[in-house]
Amino acid sequence: MKEKDIVIPIVELGYDELSESQRRLVDMAREATKRAYAPYSKFRVGAAIELDNGEIVTGANQENAAFPSGTCAERTAAYYAHASYPDAHFKAIAIAAVGTDNNEIVEPVAPCGACRQALLEYETLAKQNVEVILVGSRAIYVLPSVRSTLPLAFFSF
Ligand code: THU
Repeated sequence: MKEKDIVIPIVELGYDELSESQRRLVDMAREATKRAYAPYSKFRVGAAIELDNGEIVTGANQENAAFPSGTCAERTAAYYAHASYPDAHFKAIAIAAVGTDNNEIVEPVAPCGACRQALLEYETLAKQNVEVILVGSRAIYVLPSVRSTLPLAFFSF
């Protein structure tokens, strides 16, 4: 028998400790929360993806009265990014959220499982780690890759 532990590397930082490019991505993710369409959950999520062609693409969650039809912020941004710039590779993503009380959530927001799986595919395409920046008002978490957010990930290729 063998026991294994999977460790997720997380660096906890304050906003002022981020690099300039990380701060810009966090600012844009925070700004993107304002473009959420979330009349049902009233939970507004914003994502900003930095591409290796210098572009930053943002997205916000878009809900729908037919509930499963809505899309999370991360996939809105990821699909828009790849549909707009199919030759560019993802470098980093920042995710921010505003809760039902209209305040930024305190603990860093974490992407749902489906978004982790979708982002992992773009990380695989990029052949390089995509940094993941999770924003909260108390702290910001920086993870080195999408892979690190999804232990035992499914791969079909
Ligand atoms: N949501 C996101 O946009 N990203 C996530 O990773 C988790 C959840 C959205 C979906 C829904 O519109 C709202 O947050 C509440 O679940």
